[in-house]
Amino acid sequence: GTGKFFVGGNWKCNGSKDSIAKLVGDLNAAKLEDDVEVIVAPPFIYISQVKDSLTAPIQISAQNSWVGKGGAFTGEISAEQLKDIGCEWVILGHSERRHIIGESNEFTGKKAAYALEQNLKVIGCVGEKLEEREAGKTFDVCFEQLKAFADAVPSWDNIVIAYEPVWAIGTGKVATPQQAQEVHAAIRDWMAKNVTPEVAKKVRIIYGGSVNGANCAELAKQEDIDGFLVGGASLKGAEFATICNSV
Ligand code: G3H
Repeated sequence: GTGKFFVGGNWKCNGSKDSIAKLVGDLNAAKLEDDVEVIVAPPFIYISQVKDSLTAPIQISAQNSWVGKGGAFTGEISAEQLKDIGCEWVILGHSERRHIIGESNEFTGKKAAYALEQNLKVIGCVGEKLEEREAGKTFDVCFEQLKAFADAVPSWDNIVIAYEPVWAIGTGKVATPQQAQEVHAAIRDWMAKNVTPEVAKKVRIIYGGSVNGANCAELAKQEDIDGFLVGGASLKGAEFATICNSV
């Protein structure tokens, strides 16, 4: 992609007021390079705390949003509410939402369209499970998930694509730079053929799945890896800063 290197820290369902205060303190103390765009995604209930205490040049993302306008949807958070508290991004289609909560491709596409309409930027995730990779279906699965985003959204200007092979998430089993590059290149090729060559060239495709301070530099060297979506290692401020500065 032609945009800035992009690194997201997805804190998932982790943290407390105290641990998050410490993490934000560590991020504020870290030196982040200017040529990288950094976001963190705290649990909803801590977004305001993080927003009020962060001084580092880091934007805030939510980890999910409701599929449409707010109303009688118990337990949900709407895109309008996220905008209201100063959140700029939302992660959609994370594998934990697809495979643990059961969100479909179509539902995820609709969420992306609605979030964009409310002027949130979207990190749209795709990725295959281990058995899908072993069955030679990696590209098919990723392309189907991409197609659901493409069918639903009017523009790709405010979307970052995250490739996260499910077998690499939280397992310590990072994809090799070659494995990741192969899928990233295929995604870019799919975008050129099914969206436009201009969007394909521009869109940032970031990798997620057991990225850490030790493996980020090799991955960052790959031509089509434009950044990272980091889970576990984003809970440690200094290590996350190393990953942000890996390019
Ligand atoms: O959103 C982040 C990914 O699921 C990666 O998580 O770095 O803990 O493997 P991980």
